Amino acid sequence: MSEQRKLYVRSFGCQMNVYDAQRMTDTLAREGYVETDSPDDADLVILNTCHIREKAAEKVYSELGRLRKAQEEAGRQQMVAVAGCVAQAEGAEIIKRARAVDLVVGPQSYHKLPELLAEAEARRSGKAGARAKLVETEFPVEDKFDFLAPPTREAIGKRGPTAFVTVQEGCDKFCTFCVVPYTRGAEVSRPLAKILDEVIRLADGGVREITLIGQNVNAYHGLDAAGRPANLAELVRRVAEVPGIARVRYTTSHPRDMDEELIAAHRDMPALMPYLHLPVQSGSNRILAAMNRKHDRELFFEIVARVREARPDIAFSSDFIVGFPGESDEDFADTMDLVGRVGFASAFSFKYSPRPGTPAAGMEGQLPEDVKSARIYALQALLDRQKAAFDEACRGRRFDILLEKPGRFPGQLIGRSPYLQSVVVEAPREAIGTLARVEVREVSTKSLSGDILGGEFFAGRPIGETRFIGQSEKLEA
Ligand code: 5AD
Ligand code: SF4
Repeated sequence: MSEQRKLYVRSFGCQMNVYDAQRMTDTLAREGYVETDSPDDADLVILNTCHIREKAAEKVYSELGRLRKAQEEAGRQQMVAVAGCVAQAEGAEIIKRARAVDLVVGPQSYHKLPELLAEAEARRSGKAGARAKLVETEFPVEDKFDFLAPPTREAIGKRGPTAFVTVQEGCDKFCTFCVVPYTRGAEVSRPLAKILDEVIRLADGGVREITLIGQNVNAYHGLDAAGRPANLAELVRRVAEVPGIARVRYTTSHPRDMDEELIAAHRDMPALMPYLHLPVQSGSNRILAAMNRKHDRELFFEIVARVREARPDIAFSSDFIVGFPGESDEDFADTMDLVGRVGFASAFSFKYSPRPGTPAAGMEGQLPEDVKSARIYALQALLDRQKAAFDEACRGRRFDILLEKPGRFPGQLIGRSPYLQSVVVEAPREAIGTLARVEVREVSTKSLSGDILGGEFFAGRPIGETRFIGQSEKLEA
C-alpha cells in the first residue's frame, strides 16, 4: 500500500457524473487516496465536468481560476485533473486556458487514472523531461468497467441506501441540440451479468434502491448469459429479484424507446417506482422535427396514456428546452399546451444553449435572450404550479418511504417517497435503510412530512411504543 493522499472530487451535471465520480474514487482508493470534502487539504483535485449547456461548461473555468488563486495564496502543491464531458470536448484547450491543470481525462479513460496520474506527476516534477501536460480523450477498445474498482463495503455504507448503476452509456439519437453523442460517444450497453454482480455487491453493503442510469437507458440491450440481448424490462426484473433490493428506478429515457414490455413492467413489478422521467423537450411538432427527436407530440401523449393505464398512480417528470432556433410564439404555446394536458409532478426546463459542433448551433432563427427568458419564465411558472398541485395532492396519502439520512433536527430522518419527494419523519437513526409506511401530514415547497404507520423497522412494535413518533394516538385511532 502506498502512502495516504487526499482526494477531492467535485461533480457537475448529471447522475452519470455522480456515478463516475464514485468509481474514480473507488479506483484511486486502491492507490492510497482517501476522500476529503474540501479542496483546501487535497493532494489531488478532480473536477468532473458537464458540457451540456454553455453555463455548465463555463463553470469549470471559474472553478479552476478559484483553485489556482487558493493554491497561490496557500503556496500549495496540488495536482489538478479535469474529467467529464468538458474534458472530452475541449481536451488540450483546457490546458491552454487554465495553467493549474495537470491532466485532462475523458469519460472513457477513467480506468487509466492511476497510470495517467503517475505520468502527470512525473511530467510535473520534470522527471519525464519538459513534456507537455497530459491529455487523454481516446475512446479505448477495452471496456473501462472491466478495470474500474468496485466500491468497498465501507464506501457503500457511507453512500447510503440508494445507489446509481450505469448500465448504458452514450447516445445514437443525435438530437440536433445535444453534445452527448460527441462527448460520450456511441451507445454501449453493459452485459447483464456484470450489472447484476454490481447490484448484488451494493445490496450486500446495505443498498435498497437502485437507479439504473444511462443517457438513453431504455435503449438498453446488454447481452445476457446466453449471448442474447436483454432489454431494460428484463434488466429491471432481474435487479428487483436481488435479495435486499426493494426499489428500482431508471433514467433517462427517450420516448421512442418506451416499448411494450417496459410499459408492462410498470404494471407487473411493484418494485419499479411509479415515477418516470421522460424528456419531451418541446410540445411543437415542427420543433420536435427540427430537434430530430424522432417522434411527435401525439406519440408522447400516447405513451403517457399507456403508462398511466399500466400504472394508474404513476407520475411524470420531463425536460424542456425553450427558445430552440426558429421557435415561434405558436410553437411555444404548443409546449405550454402539452404541459397542461399531461400534468407533471416535476420537471427541468432550460433555455436553448448553442453547443459547438451540434447542428442546431448553426441553424437560422437563433432567438434573442429576452425571448428565451420570457418563455422560460412562463413555462417554469406553469411547471411550478403543477408541482405544487401534485405535492398538495399527496397530503393525507399513505405510501412507503425509504429512510435515507438524518434530518435537520435530532430525532428526525429524511426519506424519499416513490415520487422522489423528500419526506421528513420522526424515527431513530437505526431505521435508516428501511422502508416505512407513512401518512403525509404537511406539504411545503421543499419537502413533505408525515407520520409513520409501520414498516420494516417498526414491524411487530406497537406504534404506541415507538415514542419518537409524534401523534401516535391519532394513528391508532
Ligand atoms: N441547450 C439547452 N438545454 C439542453 N439540454 C441538452 N442540450 C441542451 C442545449 N444545447 C437539456 C435537454 C436534456 C437535458 C439533459 O439537458 O433538455 O434532456
Ligand atoms: Fe442528447 Fe437526444 Fe441523446 Fe438525450 S437522446 S442524450 S438529448 S442526443
